[in-house]
Amino acid sequence: MNVSPAPYTVLITGASSGIGYELALRYLQQGATVLALARSEERLAQLAKQFPQQCVPVKVDLADAGDSQRAGEWINQRVQHLDLAVLNAGTCEYVDVNNLSREPFDKVMAINWQGTVNSLLFCLPLLRKKKLLKKTLPENISQMQRAQLVGISSMASILPMPRSQAYGASKVAVEYLFNSLRVDLANEPIDITLVRPGFVKTPLTDRNDFPMPFAQTAAEAAANIMKGINNRHWLVQFPWPLVWLMNAIACLPLRAQVWLLQKISRTSP
Ligand SMILES: NC(=O)c1ccc[n+]([C@@H]2O[C@H](COP(=O)([O-])OP(=O)(O)OC[C@H]3O[C@@H](n4cnc5c(N)ncnc54)[C@H](OP(=O)(O)O)[C@@H]3O)[C@@H](O)[C@H]2O)c1
Repeated sequence: MNVSPAPYTVLITGASSGIGYELALRYLQQGATVLALARSEERLAQLAKQFPQQCVPVKVDLADAGDSQRAGEWINQRVQHLDLAVLNAGTCEYVDVNNLSREPFDKVMAINWQGTVNSLLFCLPLLRKKKLLKKTLPENISQMQRAQLVGISSMASILPMPRSQAYGASKVAVEYLFNSLRVDLANEPIDITLVRPGFVKTPLTDRNDFPMPFAQTAAEAAANIMKGINNRHWLVQFPWPLVWLMNAIACLPLRAQVWLLQKISRTSP
């Protein structure tokens, strides 16, 4: 399948479900060409059926370096450049410190960290190609001349959350990656946005056995993320009550943070 040059080309990883699916849907509704990446062919095919001229489903296991490289080559042959890449694919596994095993660490790091790196390897060259095409874009839309790379982290990255030794570490790693990319890409026309969602109701969190304060729907989260992307914010955090609470706790000395989080986790069912 060859993709015709569109005014706006977006790549979203983890587009088969939850936040990524809602983001893909919204960009498609706005008329963008969307490269929708995930492993579940069926969900991607449903999106592509709704938007046959715009949606390009790409079945790929992003945790697998070889599969990711093949997908990258396939995409390269079909699009000239990317305007926006949202590296969203991820998972969450909780750690049981009384029954430690390697599994949750391996599972989470394979997609949240290695999957992000695997995606970056083929996305960055395509985002860089956008500057070569900038003369073809409308002169009055200066922001559109800059490409944008978006990473999906989590509010969990700012505090040592209980049972989140694997998940939190993967998101801290993603944040470091994106923040240090800002330094090396500072002189290139690529904006970098990091997103820290609070709780979002998706298949990922349906498994949670604890209350999720201020939880948003995936549609609400996607709307918040798109707003931050459109405004080219460096950091997008939501919902604000949780942002305020978590950031306030993060300002406390580490001993106080640990004491508080221990209290909270003990009172959770
Ligand atoms: N939900 C929340 O409360 C919340 C909060 C903070 C941050 N986040 C982050 O938001 C992102 C999306 O989460 P979500 O809640 O929308 O979860 P979700 O509904 O489970 O969606 C995860 C997406 O990632 C894809 N994915 C997982 N492993 C993959 C792999 N190996 N290769 C390719 N694609 C893969 C899944 O597709 P396939 O299974 O089809 O491959 C799916 O499309 C994650 O990075 C998550 O950490 C979520």
